[in-house]
Amino acid sequence: MLISLSYLLAASFFIVSVRSLSSPKTARRGNLLGMLGMLIAIAATMLLVNDVLYTSLAILLGAAVGIFFALKVKMTSLPQMIAAFNGLGGLSAVLIALAEIIGGSQALLDNAVGLIIGAVAFSGSMIAFAKLQGLMSARAVVFPLQQFLNLILGLASVALCGFFVFSGNTELFYWLAAITILLGFLLILPIGGADMPVVISVLNSYSGWAAVGIGFSIGNTLLIIIGALVGASGAILSYIMVKAMNRSLLSVMLGGFGLENKSAAAAAGEAKTAKSGSPQDAAFIMENANKVIIVPGYGMAVAQAQHVLREMADDLHRLYGVEVKYAIHPVAGRMPGHMNVLLAEAGVPYEDVFELEDINREFATADVAYVIGANDVTNPLAKTDPASPLYGMPVLDVEKAKTVFFVKRSLNTGYSGVENPLFFADNTIMLYGDAKHVTEEIVSALEEK
Ligand code: TAP
Repeated sequence: MLISLSYLLAASFFIVSVRSLSSPKTARRGNLLGMLGMLIAIAATMLLVNDVLYTSLAILLGAAVGIFFALKVKMTSLPQMIAAFNGLGGLSAVLIALAEIIGGSQALLDNAVGLIIGAVAFSGSMIAFAKLQGLMSARAVVFPLQQFLNLILGLASVALCGFFVFSGNTELFYWLAAITILLGFLLILPIGGADMPVVISVLNSYSGWAAVGIGFSIGNTLLIIIGALVGASGAILSYIMVKAMNRSLLSVMLGGFGLENKSAAAAAGEAKTAKSGSPQDAAFIMENANKVIIVPGYGMAVAQAQHVLREMADDLHRLYGVEVKYAIHPVAGRMPGHMNVLLAEAGVPYEDVFELEDINREFATADVAYVIGANDVTNPLAKTDPASPLYGMPVLDVEKAKTVFFVKRSLNTGYSGVENPLFFADNTIMLYGDAKHVTEEIVSALEEK
């Protein structure tokens, strides 16, 4: 009774926590509620275990690893940390399912489902981690008959699962584990470039559904509820992201979209030259503008330029009466909400921050688009070049502003590896340098007068 009540309480905390996490204003409270829910869940589960010592040691070890990474990991490396944690969630499901089957559990179907989803989540996340951490190329890895091989492995998994459930033959279960782990590797290899965020959130969803399967097999209601929350929210996030990138989930998961493209755009880029300017030029143009739209991207996060960026916006508004807005692309940076979090951390008012669909029309009336460390999210080839891996993704129409400043260190490509023709456009001025450094110089120039 006490355990059931605690589980109910923990589940309620988790649900309110997820709800609160959906807005930056309530996200902190959401985090706290989630931690509280987990504390209650762990305490209640401790009442169930036979071996308190080993379980406590395992929890302490897990907590130490978690705290270490939470303190050490940089904001820009969060996606790979999430990928690694998804993978560990999947691996736990695999190990629990194996332990249950070896221990003689009769919940054959539940364990098999937990194993299949957990194994794909585990090995798929390992590949996602390796790609994001730079341990292997982030590009799509494709080879002949790849999809056919995946199809065969997928069908073999379903068949093995069926045979196992009807026969209870443990050996089949091991084969199922091996094949689904291989399938997870192969499924994620052909996905690369700009589609990685969707993959992470799909794998996150898988790890949740794997927990549901295991929750049924060991008869733990809280695990079923939490698994369903993770699975469903991961699925919704994946849906939102594929919609934002104008893809279909099927095409992302079948892979090949992130292939490097050096076609028309790259060739055109090589022949042209880009104009560059100084931070002082940029300060002069911006202080004489009526409207400036700031477009932050991954480079702003790397340079940690959000604080000085807010100073620049404040100065423009306070000293020169310029209207300043921030335009956020749904996949700017390296994780959902990355830019929103950084701008909120720097104290940028929420009402100055606009999503793509709410601000895109305004570039045509802006004097300046200040693109700071962003690249792919502005690439117009996404609108015009069907051969481009970015094709179909909605982008911020920065080129419609009178002047576009690109603050970055070179003409290098962004995450997708696709050249951006805007660098060579007539109304573009490159401001070469580290995003924080360049913006600091602009602030000095603005404040000098
Ligand atoms: P990117 O297209 O990756 O471009 C970032 C640019 O920042 C680079 O071209 C780089 O150019 C510049 N940069 C790096 N460090 C810098 C620094 N210290 N100072 C100034 N500039 C710096 O970024 P984006 O426009 O934000 O687009 C995001 C991309 O990541 C998309 O392709 C998206 O699909 C992908 N992605 C997104 C997520 C999520 S969920 N947001 C997750 C994984 C992948 P230089 O080297 O020339 O400086």
